[in-house]
Amino acid sequence: APVKVTKICCIGAGYVGGPTCAVIALKCPHIQVTIVDLNQARVDAWNSPDFQLPIYEPGLEDVVRGCRGRNLFFSTDVDKGIREADLIFVSVNTPTKKSGVGAGFAADLNYVESATRRIAAVATSSKIVVEKSTVPCRTAESMRTILEANSKAGCRFDILSNPEFLAEGTAISDLFAPDRVLIGSLQTQEGKDACASLAEVYANWVPRERILTVGLWSSELSKLAANAMLAQRISSVNALSAICEATGANIEEVANAVGYDSRIGPKFLRASVGFGGSCFQKDILNLVYLSESLHLPQVAAYWRQVVEMNEYQKARFSKTVVDTLFNTITGKHLAVLGFAFKADTGDTRESAAITLVRDFLLERAYVTIYDPKVEEAQIWQDLQEALPTTPLETIKKHVTISHSALDACKQKEAIVIATEWKEFKEIDWQTVYDQMSKPAFVFDGRMILDVEKLKTIGFTVKVIGRGD
Ligand code: NAD
Ligand code: UGA
Repeated sequence: APVKVTKICCIGAGYVGGPTCAVIALKCPHIQVTIVDLNQARVDAWNSPDFQLPIYEPGLEDVVRGCRGRNLFFSTDVDKGIREADLIFVSVNTPTKKSGVGAGFAADLNYVESATRRIAAVATSSKIVVEKSTVPCRTAESMRTILEANSKAGCRFDILSNPEFLAEGTAISDLFAPDRVLIGSLQTQEGKDACASLAEVYANWVPRERILTVGLWSSELSKLAANAMLAQRISSVNALSAICEATGANIEEVANAVGYDSRIGPKFLRASVGFGGSCFQKDILNLVYLSESLHLPQVAAYWRQVVEMNEYQKARFSKTVVDTLFNTITGKHLAVLGFAFKADTGDTRESAAITLVRDFLLERAYVTIYDPKVEEAQIWQDLQEALPTTPLETIKKHVTISHSALDACKQKEAIVIATEWKEFKEIDWQTVYDQMSKPAFVFDGRMILDVEKLKTIGFTVKVIGRGD
């Protein structure tokens, strides 16, 4: 019969483990939730008395304030967390492999494996082990082999897949009201019981009809499939944005018209300077690798094109900037507004802004960056990684980090919108214009500005997906 879960441990206090398990704690006051991580600084930040949490996410602080110290705990004592729990989420990072077999495509499962080995080594009672991380299809099989080969007498491990679908910037509302919760298990009695135990946890706030239970491999693959199809919509609309720019059509009008078809739907059709974030590219490359390993080269090529279109979109936008500024930006001063990969997050992983700034620096322009949430140290780290052979001193000679949008725009030749922060719409554009060299250029990579208004002020405006 299903066990009633009373103690949960989550391994990995990152963007997923932190918010996900904090919401479980809030919604399930009868369950004790401990989130563990090896990174002391991260755990300290989660525990900080003034709630200076390690990630910025709207609504997160209220959730943590609501239950930290009551039934939500953060700790570096991984072993104790594992030992006490009846259900363990594995929510560690699964980045793209940087070297070895499958480098540049396959997921690096080293962190998942060490967490699994740790569970096997310290568990003294039976556990339900849940893959929360995004993993290649059939990873649960490897986890089971490791757990079973190392388990003590009387300990049994049931493995579930429960991928996370939250998006950064809206994590808390996504977790409060998910479109669906997906749980995959082996279709044995034990597997189904474990699945029912986890479903019971979610049923504290998620309507039953939104809790989908499926086979393990379907669950694992559904996560990669969902991200691949979401990213594919963006690459499709971005591909069309290039046609718009060349013909005078307007991508907002095209996307709106297309999205009115109820079979297509209006969401996720915003053309942009390119998608970023820690997952889309990584998960598609993972799917490409999986397809190739399964001897399905046509399938691999199909998905690979989604990432290639995204690279093209970023390069195309950089080129538009250079071309418009009379074919050279050497020695020119540009402001880049936004550095996060999307609004309402301080996360810069795979942000299109990094690629743009890199391209501008390679053209030897001077760049001033402003983002309301990204830490200064993060920007330097990202630029150093994007330009590994350029000394940081040299980068710093060409890059300034500003503390306001207005300040960043002062005396520039061009302004580039890289992230759709709401505050960029509300900038006093007349003042910006008055303080710029003329002709004054604005490049809107996010379609957020009032183009007619800017043109009336005197700006030359280039918007993604508009040929005018
Ligand atoms: P993250 O890097 O923010 O967090 C992972 C954490 O795990 C780190 O703090 C790291 O120190 C810790 N860790 C690694 N190995 C450990 C170990 N053996 N023991 C204890 N702690 C360990 O990553 P994230 O963004 O939270 O992503 C985690 C997983 O969730 C990934 O597989 C990702 O693909 C998936 N995912 C992410 C998102 C998102 O929006 N970021 C959404 C859905 C799914
Ligand atoms: C995405 C998915 O939306 C989540 O469901 C998934 O759980 C998550 O990846 C993950 O697995 O990590 P996230 O990357 O946080 O979430 O944010 P999105 O809102 O999906 O945006 C991703 C990128 O696409 C951003 O750079 C965004 O600006 C861009 N985007 C999004 C567009 O360019 N156009 C759109 O219409 C939508």
